[in-house]
Amino acid sequence: MKNQPMYRGAILLALILSLLILGCQKELKAPNGLSFSVVKNYHHWPLISFSYRQDLQELHLILGNATAFEDFLHGIPDNGHPFTDGAVLVRLVYPARANPSFGQDLEPGRLKRLDYMIKDAERFKNTKGWGYASFAYLSQEKRFKPLGSSADFFRNCIQCHEKARKRDYVFTSYSPKGPR
Ligand code: HEC
Repeated sequence: MKNQPMYRGAILLALILSLLILGCQKELKAPNGLSFSVVKNYHHWPLISFSYRQDLQELHLILGNATAFEDFLHGIPDNGHPFTDGAVLVRLVYPARANPSFGQDLEPGRLKRLDYMIKDAERFKNTKGWGYASFAYLSQEKRFKPLGSSADFFRNCIQCHEKARKRDYVFTSYSPKGPR
């Protein structure tokens, strides 16, 4: 039993290490409680479309999860039907800059932000069926940080997305990539 203090020390160390690891993995959440984990697989999601925001000189990539992608292939929202519950849309925002080898071409600079919208007619019934979240990308630290100073930051999102209310609040249409 003379090794007991050593065992205790090892257990204590393991406990401290696991607490530290858990602390570092603290869930990333927007101020309204929506978690970054909703989009954790977005690197594998299909491209829905892309756009150029002229006033802000930004390039936007719009991705969708499998549910959203199916909806787009069925003509939503152009056909006036609402998205299916569980559909998630991601917008990746990049500053547009001239391609150094060909100035007339605009290419994306460093990733600035990730916005997402998740559809759940019941859960988000107070916000027209969609939950909104936004995360700034800190490129030096290679991590995301939630945006919005108060829990109702998303009012701003809804106010503008209201312009697309006839399309279930989604501006983007699917850009076909040609036959498979
Ligand atoms: C001033 C208007 C405006 C505001 C405010 C706004 N958006 Fe949008 N959003 C747009 C427009 C226009 C598009 C489509 C063009 C684009 O950005 O690619 C869009 C596209 C999106 C998309 C892709 C799906 C779609 O509707 O086309 C997501 C996701 C999104 N916005 C999330 C957000 C979130 C989250 C917020 C708030 C933090 C927000 N938006 C605030 C105008 C706005």
